[in-house]
Amino acid sequence: MTSTITTDLVDQFLGVRALTENVAGLLSAEDQAAQSMPDASPAKWHRAHTTWFFEEFLLDPTGQYTSYDASYRYLFNSYYEAVGPRHPRAQRGLVTRPNAAEIGRYRAHVDDAMAALLTNGDAPPALVQLGLHHEQQHQELLVMDAKHLLSRHPFAPVLVERDADSGTEAAPLGWREVEGGLISIGHEGDGFRFDNEGPQHQAFVLPFEIANRAVTNADWLAFVDDGGYQRAEFWLSDGWHAVQQYGWQAPEYWSQRDGERRVFTCSGERPLDPGEPVCHVSFYEADAYARWAGARLPTEQEWEVAARAVPGALGALLDPARLHPGAAGRQMIGDVWEWTSSAYLPYPGFAPMPGAVGEYNGKFMCDQHVLRGASCATPPGHERLTYRNFFPASARWAFSGLRLARNAA
Ligand SMILES: [Fe+2]
Repeated sequence: MTSTITTDLVDQFLGVRALTENVAGLLSAEDQAAQSMPDASPAKWHRAHTTWFFEEFLLDPTGQYTSYDASYRYLFNSYYEAVGPRHPRAQRGLVTRPNAAEIGRYRAHVDDAMAALLTNGDAPPALVQLGLHHEQQHQELLVMDAKHLLSRHPFAPVLVERDADSGTEAAPLGWREVEGGLISIGHEGDGFRFDNEGPQHQAFVLPFEIANRAVTNADWLAFVDDGGYQRAEFWLSDGWHAVQQYGWQAPEYWSQRDGERRVFTCSGERPLDPGEPVCHVSFYEADAYARWAGARLPTEQEWEVAARAVPGALGALLDPARLHPGAAGRQMIGDVWEWTSSAYLPYPGFAPMPGAVGEYNGKFMCDQHVLRGASCATPPGHERLTYRNFFPASARWAFSGLRLARNAA
């Protein structure tokens, strides 16, 4: 029995590790070394950092493991104060050595050691799963960061060749009534969850209505054409400041050529597809749009109770041959993350994981907003109804969109 379980675990481990390499393989060694902004990391760094995570939290504690290179503990620790000093995040693109090929050898070294550890059945299961879900989380970051990097190239290069979708059409906007009351929020059961998804608890929600689909590019264009980015009345004060500071006039990656709206995608620059969900908007923009539309963003509790009512409906998740949302449909998980109005805070009774990995989520619960769902850069198997993604209110490089809500009539 044990051998079947460990074989499955080794397969799961190797499967996750292989997807990282598949996605990174879309990039050249030169692509993999570059860092387009302090928030983004080089692809090569993501490949190494996810590997370091297994080394630091699973292999080193065995006392039997020989590290690949002691300097990697400094180079590839992200933010774990308990582990020790680390290279500054904003300067990751300056670490030209080790090169991409060397990172591949590092990954192979750790894969071998991890396969042996998993086969022996000696690895703490919770930490193994955390390491795998951590790597999946970085697969999404890898896609986001690669897209941002290539968007800064003057000729909008293609990450993945793909025919344009034909006739993408969104359902007409409609509203779904959701009954309020005392509801259960958060993850329950044996499956993996991050610590921030629990404990499950009760929350009180008034009756409300939620849109039957995400806001589309066509919807957003009406906001732009109505002077949405020039009219302060729709914006939070900080949001209006961001509009001035960054010169926002449309979502990230939108452009205009010869009167035609265009958008940079992982398959190069394309005409804007009106039926796709709008993507790469900040919380500030999502909030302003909702006010313009006479609605509001859902709270994360409203989002969760509404999503429970559409089980099984999934939009696009990470497919290395696509890396792009599909048409806005009834699904609440997939295509684009959806901003909620909720600040990213601990749930009642929240307890971080013990040890250094307790720094994983808890210490970021300040000045960020929760996004729900999943996106076309989220690897299959990583999506969860109770998943709490989070970004600062001005961030736009995630695959982030929105869905409207409003109070019950
Ligand atoms: Fe990480």
